[in-house]
Amino acid sequence: MYDFRGQTVIVTGGNRGIGKAIAEGFLKAGARAIVTYSANEAATAQFTQDNSQFAQNIDIQKLDVTKYEEVEEFFKYIDTKYKSFEVLVNNAGIRKDSVLAMMKESDWHDVMNVNLTGVFYMCKFAVMSLIRRRYGRIINIGSVMERYGFEGQANYAASKAGLTALAKSLSKEVATRGITVNCVSPGFIATEFIQDVPDKLRESYLARIPLKRFGSTEEVAACVLFLASPEASYITGSTLEVTGGL
Ligand SMILES: NC(=O)c1ccc[n+]([C@@H]2O[C@H](COP(=O)([O-])OP(=O)(O)OC[C@H]3O[C@@H](n4cnc5c(N)ncnc54)[C@H](OP(=O)(O)O)[C@@H]3O)[C@@H](O)[C@H]2O)c1
Repeated sequence: MYDFRGQTVIVTGGNRGIGKAIAEGFLKAGARAIVTYSANEAATAQFTQDNSQFAQNIDIQKLDVTKYEEVEEFFKYIDTKYKSFEVLVNNAGIRKDSVLAMMKESDWHDVMNVNLTGVFYMCKFAVMSLIRRRYGRIINIGSVMERYGFEGQANYAASKAGLTALAKSLSKEVATRGITVNCVSPGFIATEFIQDVPDKLRESYLARIPLKRFGSTEEVAACVLFLASPEASYITGSTLEVTGGL
Protein backbone atom coordinates (compact mmCIF):
# COMPACT_ATOMS: atom_id res chain seq x y z
CA MET A 1 0.00 0.00 0.00
CA TYR A 2 2.89 2.39 0.79
CA ASP A 3 6.17 3.05 -0.94
CA PHE A 4 9.12 3.76 1.35
CA ARG A 5 11.83 2.87 -1.17
CA GLY A 6 14.90 5.03 -0.63
CA GLN A 7 13.93 5.81 2.97
CA THR A 8 15.78 4.76 6.11
CA VAL A 9 13.64 3.96 9.13
CA ILE A 10 14.77 3.45 12.73
CA VAL A 11 12.58 1.23 14.91
CA THR A 12 13.57 0.88 18.57
CA GLY A 13 12.70 -2.51 20.01
CA GLY A 14 12.08 -3.66 16.43
CA ASN A 15 13.23 -7.24 16.97
CA ARG A 16 9.97 -8.59 18.40
CA GLY A 17 6.33 -7.82 19.18
CA ILE A 18 4.80 -4.64 17.80
CA GLY A 19 8.20 -3.26 16.78
CA LYS A 20 8.87 -6.34 14.65
CA ALA A 21 5.58 -5.88 12.76
CA ILE A 22 6.42 -2.20 12.25
CA ALA A 23 9.90 -2.98 10.93
CA GLU A 24 8.50 -5.70 8.67
CA GLY A 25 5.82 -3.33 7.36
CA PHE A 26 8.51 -0.82 6.35
CA LEU A 27 10.72 -3.56 4.84
CA LYS A 28 7.84 -4.84 2.72
CA ALA A 29 7.25 -1.26 1.56
CA GLY A 30 10.87 -1.04 0.37
CA ALA A 31 12.54 0.86 3.23
CA ARG A 32 15.88 0.16 4.86
CA ALA A 33 15.15 -0.70 8.51
CA ILE A 34 17.55 -0.06 11.34
CA VAL A 35 16.20 -2.32 14.05
CA THR A 36 17.36 -1.92 17.61
CA TYR A 37 17.06 -4.30 20.55
CA SER A 38 18.35 -4.21 24.10
CA ALA A 39 19.11 -7.77 25.21
CA ASN A 40 17.03 -10.51 23.62
CA GLU A 41 19.47 -12.21 21.23
CA ALA A 42 17.11 -15.14 20.51
CA ALA A 43 14.29 -12.86 19.33
CA THR A 44 16.76 -10.87 17.28
CA ALA A 45 18.07 -14.01 15.56
CA GLN A 46 14.46 -15.00 14.85
CA PHE A 47 13.82 -11.56 13.33
CA THR A 48 16.81 -11.99 11.02
CA GLN A 49 15.69 -15.47 10.03
CA ASP A 50 12.08 -14.43 9.39
CA ASN A 51 13.21 -11.54 7.20
CA SER A 52 16.08 -13.12 5.30
CA GLN A 53 14.58 -11.94 1.98
CA PHE A 54 15.20 -8.35 3.11
CA ALA A 55 18.71 -8.99 4.48
CA GLN A 56 20.36 -6.27 2.41
CA ASN A 57 17.91 -3.70 3.85
CA ILE A 58 18.27 -4.66 7.52
CA ASP A 59 20.76 -3.26 10.01
CA ILE A 60 20.39 -4.59 13.55
CA GLN A 61 21.95 -2.60 16.38
CA LYS A 62 22.10 -3.28 20.10
CA LEU A 63 20.98 -0.14 21.90
CA ASP A 64 19.78 0.54 25.42
CA VAL A 65 17.65 3.68 25.03
CA THR A 66 18.12 4.55 28.71
CA LYS A 67 21.87 5.19 28.20
CA TYR A 68 22.49 8.73 26.95
CA GLU A 69 26.00 8.00 25.63
CA GLU A 70 24.83 4.87 23.80
CA VAL A 71 22.07 6.84 22.08
CA GLU A 72 24.54 9.57 21.13
CA GLU A 73 26.93 6.94 19.68
CA PHE A 74 24.06 5.28 17.82
CA PHE A 75 23.19 8.51 16.01
CA LYS A 76 26.87 9.16 15.22
CA TYR A 77 26.92 5.70 13.62
CA ILE A 78 23.76 6.48 11.59
CA ASP A 79 25.23 9.78 10.50
CA THR A 80 28.51 8.20 9.39
CA LYS A 81 27.02 5.15 7.71
CA TYR A 82 23.82 6.52 6.15
CA LYS A 83 24.23 10.33 6.32
CA SER A 84 20.55 10.67 7.17
CA PHE A 85 17.31 8.87 7.89
CA GLU A 86 13.67 9.77 7.39
CA VAL A 87 11.61 7.99 10.07
CA LEU A 88 12.12 7.28 13.77
CA VAL A 89 9.68 4.97 15.54
CA ASN A 90 10.10 5.04 19.32
CA ASN A 91 8.59 1.67 20.08
CA ALA A 92 10.79 0.21 22.86
CA GLY A 93 8.82 -0.02 26.08
CA ILE A 94 8.45 -2.02 29.27
CA ARG A 95 5.92 -2.44 32.04
CA LYS A 96 6.47 -3.37 35.68
CA ASP A 97 3.00 -3.51 37.17
CA SER A 98 2.01 -3.19 40.79
CA VAL A 99 -0.55 -1.19 42.74
CA LEU A 100 0.97 2.16 43.55
CA ALA A 101 1.19 1.69 47.32
CA MET A 102 3.26 -1.46 46.81
CA MET A 103 5.30 -0.23 43.86
CA LYS A 104 9.06 -0.51 44.26
CA GLU A 105 10.92 2.72 43.69
CA SER A 106 13.12 0.93 41.13
CA ASP A 107 10.05 -0.24 39.17
CA TRP A 108 8.85 3.36 38.92
CA HIS A 109 12.22 4.56 37.64
CA ASP A 110 12.84 1.60 35.28
CA VAL A 111 9.56 2.19 33.48
CA MET A 112 10.08 5.95 33.30
CA ASN A 113 13.63 5.49 32.05
CA VAL A 114 12.75 3.24 29.11
CA ASN A 115 9.32 4.60 28.15
CA LEU A 116 9.90 8.32 28.63
CA THR A 117 13.53 9.28 29.19
CA GLY A 118 14.62 6.90 26.42
CA VAL A 119 12.25 8.64 24.02
CA PHE A 120 13.64 12.01 25.05
CA TYR A 121 17.18 10.83 24.29
CA MET A 122 16.18 9.34 20.92
CA CYS A 123 14.21 12.44 19.90
CA LYS A 124 16.98 14.83 21.01
CA PHE A 125 19.59 13.32 18.72
CA ALA A 126 17.14 12.44 15.93
CA VAL A 127 15.83 15.97 15.69
CA MET A 128 19.32 17.44 15.28
CA SER A 129 19.80 15.24 12.23
CA LEU A 130 16.28 15.65 10.80
CA ILE A 131 16.42 19.44 11.09
CA ARG A 132 19.46 19.48 8.77
CA ARG A 133 17.50 17.37 6.31
CA ARG A 134 14.34 19.50 6.67
CA TYR A 135 12.20 16.36 6.59
CA GLY A 136 11.27 13.75 9.12
CA ARG A 137 8.62 11.63 10.72
CA ILE A 138 8.77 10.72 14.41
CA ILE A 139 6.19 8.27 15.73
CA ASN A 140 6.01 7.30 19.38
CA ILE A 141 4.19 4.20 20.54
CA GLY A 142 2.04 5.24 23.48
CA SER A 143 -0.72 3.25 25.12
CA VAL A 144 -4.41 3.59 25.77
CA MET A 145 -3.43 3.59 29.47
CA GLU A 146 -2.19 7.17 29.10
CA ARG A 147 -5.79 8.41 29.10
CA TYR A 148 -7.72 5.40 30.41
CA GLY A 149 -5.60 4.67 33.49
CA PHE A 150 -5.46 1.15 34.83
CA GLU A 151 -5.10 -0.42 38.24
CA GLY A 152 -1.50 -1.57 38.76
CA GLN A 153 -0.11 0.61 35.98
CA ALA A 154 0.45 4.04 37.51
CA ASN A 155 4.10 4.07 36.41
CA TYR A 156 3.33 2.79 32.92
CA ALA A 157 0.31 5.07 32.36
CA ALA A 158 2.25 8.11 33.61
CA SER A 159 5.21 7.32 31.35
CA LYS A 160 2.96 7.00 28.29
CA ALA A 161 1.04 10.19 29.13
CA GLY A 162 4.41 11.95 29.38
CA LEU A 163 5.44 10.56 26.02
CA THR A 164 2.28 11.99 24.42
CA ALA A 165 2.91 15.39 25.97
CA LEU A 166 6.53 15.25 24.79
CA ALA A 167 5.33 14.53 21.24
CA LYS A 168 2.82 17.40 21.29
CA SER A 169 5.45 19.90 22.48
CA LEU A 170 8.13 18.66 20.08
CA SER A 171 5.69 18.77 17.16
CA LYS A 172 5.32 22.51 17.67
CA GLU A 173 9.08 23.05 17.91
CA VAL A 174 9.91 21.30 14.63
CA ALA A 175 6.82 21.88 12.47
CA THR A 176 8.45 24.57 10.33
CA ARG A 177 11.37 22.22 9.62
CA GLY A 178 9.21 19.68 7.79
CA ILE A 179 9.15 17.24 10.70
CA THR A 180 5.95 15.73 12.05
CA VAL A 181 5.70 14.10 15.48
CA ASN A 182 2.78 11.82 16.31
CA CYS A 183 1.80 8.94 18.57
CA VAL A 184 0.11 5.64 17.94
CA SER A 185 -1.70 4.51 21.03
CA PRO A 186 -2.54 0.78 21.11
CA GLY A 187 -4.99 -0.93 23.42
CA PHE A 188 -4.39 -4.61 24.20
CA ILE A 189 -2.22 -6.16 21.51
CA ALA A 190 -1.35 -9.87 21.44
CA THR A 191 2.41 -9.87 22.15
CA GLU A 192 4.75 -11.22 24.85
CA PHE A 193 4.12 -7.89 26.55
CA ILE A 194 0.76 -9.11 27.87
CA GLN A 195 1.57 -12.83 28.03
CA ASP A 196 2.22 -12.81 31.76
CA VAL A 197 -1.25 -11.43 32.52
CA PRO A 198 -3.25 -14.02 34.51
CA ASP A 199 -6.16 -15.66 32.63
CA LYS A 200 -8.82 -14.08 34.83
CA LEU A 201 -7.44 -10.60 34.22
CA ARG A 202 -7.20 -11.32 30.48
CA GLU A 203 -10.89 -12.19 30.44
CA SER A 204 -11.72 -8.96 32.23
CA TYR A 205 -9.65 -7.03 29.66
CA LEU A 206 -11.52 -8.75 26.81
CA ALA A 207 -14.85 -7.95 28.41
CA ARG A 208 -13.97 -4.25 28.38
CA ILE A 209 -12.98 -4.17 24.69
CA PRO A 210 -15.98 -3.33 22.46
CA LEU A 211 -14.52 -5.34 19.54
CA LYS A 212 -14.09 -8.31 21.95
CA ARG A 213 -10.59 -9.32 20.85
CA PHE A 214 -6.99 -8.28 21.32
CA GLY A 215 -5.47 -6.35 18.43
CA SER A 216 -2.72 -7.69 16.19
CA THR A 217 0.75 -6.24 15.82
CA GLU A 218 0.05 -5.71 12.10
CA GLU A 219 -2.96 -3.54 12.95
CA VAL A 220 -0.68 -1.25 14.96
CA ALA A 221 2.02 -1.29 12.26
CA ALA A 222 -0.51 -0.19 9.63
CA CYS A 223 -1.18 3.01 11.59
CA VAL A 224 2.54 3.71 12.00
CA LEU A 225 3.13 3.33 8.26
CA PHE A 226 0.23 5.66 7.55
CA LEU A 227 1.64 8.37 9.85
CA ALA A 228 5.06 7.96 8.22
CA SER A 229 3.63 8.24 4.71
CA PRO A 230 3.25 11.36 2.53
CA GLU A 231 -0.52 10.93 2.89
CA ALA A 232 -0.20 11.96 6.56
CA SER A 233 1.67 15.18 5.80
CA TYR A 234 -0.89 17.45 7.54
CA ILE A 235 -1.01 15.43 10.77
CA THR A 236 1.29 16.42 13.62
CA GLY A 237 0.99 16.49 17.40
CA SER A 238 -1.76 13.88 17.14
CA THR A 239 -2.45 10.48 18.65
CA LEU A 240 -4.00 7.71 16.61
CA GLU A 241 -5.72 5.13 18.82
CA VAL A 242 -5.76 1.42 17.93
CA THR A 243 -7.83 0.04 20.76
CA GLY A 244 -10.80 -1.92 19.47
CA GLY A 245 -12.93 0.89 20.84
CA LEU A 246 -11.65 0.75 24.45
N1 LIG B 1 1.38 -5.27 23.69
C1 LIG B 1 0.48 -4.41 24.09
O1 LIG B 1 -0.65 -4.78 24.45
C2 LIG B 1 0.77 -2.94 24.09
C3 LIG B 1 -0.30 -2.07 24.31
C4 LIG B 1 -0.08 -0.71 24.28
C5 LIG B 1 1.19 -0.22 24.05
N2 LIG B 1 2.23 -1.09 23.85
C6 LIG B 1 3.54 -0.50 23.62
O2 LIG B 1 4.06 -0.98 22.40
C7 LIG B 1 5.48 -1.04 22.48
C8 LIG B 1 5.96 -2.43 22.10
O3 LIG B 1 5.28 -3.35 22.92
P1 LIG B 1 5.39 -4.93 22.68
O4 LIG B 1 4.13 -5.50 23.16
O5 LIG B 1 5.86 -5.22 21.32
O6 LIG B 1 6.55 -5.25 23.75
P2 LIG B 1 7.59 -6.46 23.83
O7 LIG B 1 7.16 -7.57 22.95
O8 LIG B 1 7.76 -6.71 25.29
O9 LIG B 1 8.93 -5.81 23.23
C9 LIG B 1 9.56 -4.76 23.92
C10 LIG B 1 10.69 -4.25 23.07
O10 LIG B 1 11.35 -3.17 23.75
C11 LIG B 1 12.75 -3.44 23.78
N3 LIG B 1 13.35 -2.81 24.97
C12 LIG B 1 13.06 -3.07 26.27
N4 LIG B 1 13.86 -2.34 27.07
C13 LIG B 1 14.68 -1.61 26.25
C14 LIG B 1 15.73 -0.68 26.47
N5 LIG B 1 16.13 -0.32 27.70
N6 LIG B 1 16.35 -0.13 25.37
C15 LIG B 1 15.97 -0.47 24.14
N7 LIG B 1 15.00 -1.35 23.86
C16 LIG B 1 14.34 -1.92 24.92
C17 LIG B 1 12.84 -4.94 23.80
O11 LIG B 1 14.16 -5.38 23.39
P3 LIG B 1 14.65 -6.88 23.78
O12 LIG B 1 13.87 -7.80 22.87
O13 LIG B 1 16.11 -6.88 23.46
O14 LIG B 1 14.33 -7.09 25.21
C18 LIG B 1 11.76 -5.31 22.81
O15 LIG B 1 12.23 -5.16 21.50
C19 LIG B 1 5.85 -0.65 23.92
O16 LIG B 1 6.20 0.71 23.95
C20 LIG B 1 4.56 -0.86 24.68
O17 LIG B 1 4.45 -0.02 25.79
C21 LIG B 1 2.05 -2.44 23.87
